[in-house]
Amino acid sequence: MLLPDKVAIINGGATGMGRATAIKFAEEGCSSVIADVNEAEGKKTAEEASKKGKECIFVKCDITDIKQIKNCADQTIKKFGKVDILVGCAGGVPKSRLANSSQKFERPKRGIANLGEGFWDAMLTLNLKGHAFFCKEVAPYMIKQKFGKIILISSLGVYSPPMPSSEYHSAKAGIIGLVLNLAFELAPHNINVNAILPGPIKTPFYDPLMASMSEKEKEAKFAEMGKSVPLQRIGTAEDIANTVLFFSSEMSSYITGESLIVGGGKPLPVYREML
Ligand SMILES: NC(=O)c1ccc[n+]([C@@H]2O[C@H](COP(=O)([O-])OP(=O)(O)OC[C@H]3O[C@@H](n4cnc5c(N)ncnc54)[C@H](O)[C@@H]3O)[C@@H](O)[C@H]2O)c1
Repeated sequence: MLLPDKVAIINGGATGMGRATAIKFAEEGCSSVIADVNEAEGKKTAEEASKKGKECIFVKCDITDIKQIKNCADQTIKKFGKVDILVGCAGGVPKSRLANSSQKFERPKRGIANLGEGFWDAMLTLNLKGHAFFCKEVAPYMIKQKFGKIILISSLGVYSPPMPSSEYHSAKAGIIGLVLNLAFELAPHNINVNAILPGPIKTPFYDPLMASMSEKEKEAKFAEMGKSVPLQRIGTAEDIANTVLFFSSEMSSYITGESLIVGGGKPLPVYREML
């Protein structure tokens, strides 16, 4: 086992990459707390992971609300007595209102001309600020035990956007800055901090973007996305969970401040005979 008797918090762990990570961690000897807004799926994932070995529990937590982040860290310590690993998977497009605000916002059309202040703030709160404050809550426990692994999910879109989304890609670029700064600051405490930049990965992330499509159309779209990848397939949640496991284990103990692209060869172009 690669993570014997470790304890992890996986935010955004209800579905997709976080869910695959929770299941993998349980198989590798790690107890986990799934921190997510999706209670139904979060509980299902916790149950499924627990069956694989180590205990996995669900704590309802919206990472746009600092009080809920603090509560999640407290619940983790109460239940397991420590936190060794933080995986930051929560992200995507926020709903029409943040947890701790009465201010509604709308998702504007794509393009810099349509940039909306409310949506910008919400995007950065979910995809950047929430992760910074989650790190703030867990770092003291990691510093005290002189051990910790923090893995945050950014996006390959930072360097190679598949479509314009300044709000989302700026937040994800911020994750790289956050990781570099924390890696520097926390290295003397034996805490490794790394980012993963996924390329296109088949997860519920695309559900809102494909809401009007039939299942057949969705599969065709995923297959088409796979054709833009040098390895000629769309990625799976397990491809990312395997990389999270690497960064969480002692196999990567001399790596910190790294941002690893996991994109099937992207942003390289697809190989074609030219001459
Ligand atoms: N799928 C891709 O192609 C892709 C590519 C690059 C980056 N990403 C990033 O990967 C991460 C994981 O996404 P995924 O692809 O597994 O999709 P996903 O939608 O299955 O997972 C995102 C999870 O975050 C949770 N979440 C959303 N808002 C939250 C909040 N305010 N507080 C707590 N939890 C919240 C969701 O409920 C969900 O469980 C995201 O940060 C996403 O931006 C995805």
